[in-house]
Amino acid sequence: MRRCRVCGSAIEPFMSFGPMPLANGFLRAEEFASEAFFDLEVAFCERCAMVQLTEPVPPELMFHEQYPFYTSGSTLMTAHFHRLAAEVAQSLAREPDAFVVEIGSNDGTLLQAFSSGGTRHLGVDPSRNVAEAARAKGVETLCRFFDEQAAREIVLEYGQADAIIACNCFCHVGDLHALAAGIRALLKPGGLLVFEDPYLGDIVRLTSYDQIYDEHAYYFSAGSVSAWLSPYGLEVIDAQPQAVHGGSMRYTVARKGVHPARAGVAALRAEESRMALQAPHTYSLFRRRIEQSREALRDLLTRLHQQGKRVAGYGATSKSTTILNYCGITPELIEYITDTTPLKQGKFSPGAHIPVRSPAAFHFDFPDCALLFAWNHAEEIGAKETAFRSAGGKWIRYVPRVTIE
Ligand code: TYD
Ligand code: ZN
Repeated sequence: MRRCRVCGSAIEPFMSFGPMPLANGFLRAEEFASEAFFDLEVAFCERCAMVQLTEPVPPELMFHEQYPFYTSGSTLMTAHFHRLAAEVAQSLAREPDAFVVEIGSNDGTLLQAFSSGGTRHLGVDPSRNVAEAARAKGVETLCRFFDEQAAREIVLEYGQADAIIACNCFCHVGDLHALAAGIRALLKPGGLLVFEDPYLGDIVRLTSYDQIYDEHAYYFSAGSVSAWLSPYGLEVIDAQPQAVHGGSMRYTVARKGVHPARAGVAALRAEESRMALQAPHTYSLFRRRIEQSREALRDLLTRLHQQGKRVAGYGATSKSTTILNYCGITPELIEYITDTTPLKQGKFSPGAHIPVRSPAAFHFDFPDCALLFAWNHAEEIGAKETAFRSAGGKWIRYVPRVTIE
């Protein structure tokens, strides 16, 4: 029997995607034979409402010295993080000698706002390549996984944190208990934790099942986050929806009873009841919509192939690994995927083995259609790819439903 990794109750998977490669495991042809696969299964806990993978992949396989995701790769995300940094900085304005920690600080995009203003700060990230990119920007960075031991060492050296920030990080952490114990140790009595991650309510509403992949061990809601943090004396005091990453939630957390909860929390809990996010039938319906989406995308790509149309993927996202492998999309149906990340270019996509090429290849010879894997960056991409449109190019989307236009 499988058990919820938050509360220990028995859980049953509601969806199995079958064997999947590492979502960010872009590889060379000579590595195809040794590629590893893991069963991707997702379950809902009826007791604490946490949606989670049943078999988390060992973190060292995902977050290492060649982690190919750089936050600074998106100008809109960079702007988003600068706004968040400004808000946190404002809340700290009256703290003398404030100390800010970011967990999962990647290439230092967010903390740079603090380092350039001379604020005491520390980033923590286990992937050496991105940690080094952060240091090169002047962002102090500790290259390791964050847990209670790391928190204690940080407190010894710097003291407790006035603010802890984590963006698109906590859902990646397999052991939420080690994480919560670390936060409890690191946070000042009156301090605030601000974190954001893709929001379960949006994933269910939009059928954006491509958010489900090895690195996302959890799919949070206000209900499940409260259930997770409450035993550690922490409570959610604010929740604000964010448009980024196709629908994220920003949770503000404090020690219980220290700060009053804002109205956003009760409103979100009410909305989650209305959406029945705590009811098992929501997840059987979600599964049915996922299966229908797969059929529609496969039908469309097969039809385009039969018509002799050239299709390229746009954005070699982690999310695309779930789509490509679950839908059985081959290099026959998608010629290549274009991506701005040098570490991915010249390699092949995990599992499906579709070549990744630079934007120059895309611009040199536009395909007839582009399948937008980076749909969460649609605005930014649409604005810069006007020539593709003018040349008659069509965008294929699959969130919230499969469309071509
Ligand atoms: P993103 O959707 O942020 O992440 P995830 O890997 O979590 O699914 O990844 C965006 C990817 O798309 C990244 O590899 C960079 C690429 N990209 C482009 O190729 N062009 C662009 O204009 C943008 C915004 C992203
Ligand atoms: Zn549970």
